[in-house]
Amino acid sequence: MADMIEPIRYTEDRLVMIDQTQLPETVAWLQLETVEEVWHAIREMRVRGAPAIAMVAAYGYAMAARSAQAKTPMELQARLATVKTYLESARPTAVNLFWAMERMAAVTLSLCDEAQKLAHADERQMVKWVVAGLFDEARAIQAEDETSCRAIGENLLTLMHDGMGVLTHCNTGTLATSKYGTALAGMYLAHERGWHIAVFADETRPVLQGARLTAWELQQAGIDVTLICDNMAATVMAQGKVQAVMVGADRIAANGDTANKIGTHGLAVLANHFGIPFYVAAPLSTFDLATPNGAAIVIEERDEREITEPFGKRIAPAEIQVYNPAFDVTPHELISAIVTERGVLPRPDLAVMSAFTGRWSS
Ligand code: MRU
Repeated sequence: MADMIEPIRYTEDRLVMIDQTQLPETVAWLQLETVEEVWHAIREMRVRGAPAIAMVAAYGYAMAARSAQAKTPMELQARLATVKTYLESARPTAVNLFWAMERMAAVTLSLCDEAQKLAHADERQMVKWVVAGLFDEARAIQAEDETSCRAIGENLLTLMHDGMGVLTHCNTGTLATSKYGTALAGMYLAHERGWHIAVFADETRPVLQGARLTAWELQQAGIDVTLICDNMAATVMAQGKVQAVMVGADRIAANGDTANKIGTHGLAVLANHFGIPFYVAAPLSTFDLATPNGAAIVIEERDEREITEPFGKRIAPAEIQVYNPAFDVTPHELISAIVTERGVLPRPDLAVMSAFTGRWSS
């Protein structure tokens, strides 16, 4: 695993990250220096995947703090309230973005409070100190993501065996996180153990994260991956080629209902029909206990050209009506287990979720 790509790093006053829209043809690196560039990179899906969006937004927030030229900690705090709302507006569904912004805002508050208490201190020096603390927090979010995803992978391994087939959707690997991925973490760790796992990757219409990103990164890692069109999932399941479906999540509501890339719900219906376990893998930062159920999750709708003109080539009649929700919600009844860094929650529902979240929040 040592030679895995490091898709996001903050170095020399800039955020350096792989431009996911260029893959797999070109491995191009973006160098982002302003919060506006970070916002656009998230909105245009140059970086995507719930944990990756959270990390990048956290760095963007710290970068905005550095360039705010605030004279006092109080002034900095006021400016960052606007930055938080701005970054949160980049994409609506993945709760990790909002989680990261809440966390950065809480750290801002506590650092500014501490700075205020230092009577006679040079206020500009205090601002610099707060900014340094915000970069530390962004780095902590990234480091914790790596540890959490590795733990998710270890927990996924308890549900896997050598020689099995796994179907996955969208991209939940290195590119979507800091290193190990979520649903792909078990596959990386299984490979590290010398197990053979045959992965079937849905191409994932309309933006093709499966074809462009998952197929690419699993191939790079030397894992047996077969690309299929989304509408081939039932055939692969009926033919007995897969013994589990493993997907990620963008937001998990209090009752276990899970928003993930459009097409996930259909896979869960199919998996239940064929008696194949359907696993959701996600860190706790994807849990949104303030949202009671899937019906309350805001689903992003994206530009119709993703469907009518994929990758710049018109494939549909002019003026055709288009509906392009980027995510769907899988009802918790269809989920065999949610796999987190703190363990596996079988058959998640409100009671199971409450007991589990009660344990880790206390
Ligand atoms: O629109 P995207 O590509 O950001 O959607 C990403 C997904 O739906 C992933 O499956 C999910 O974020 C899990 S990422 C580890």
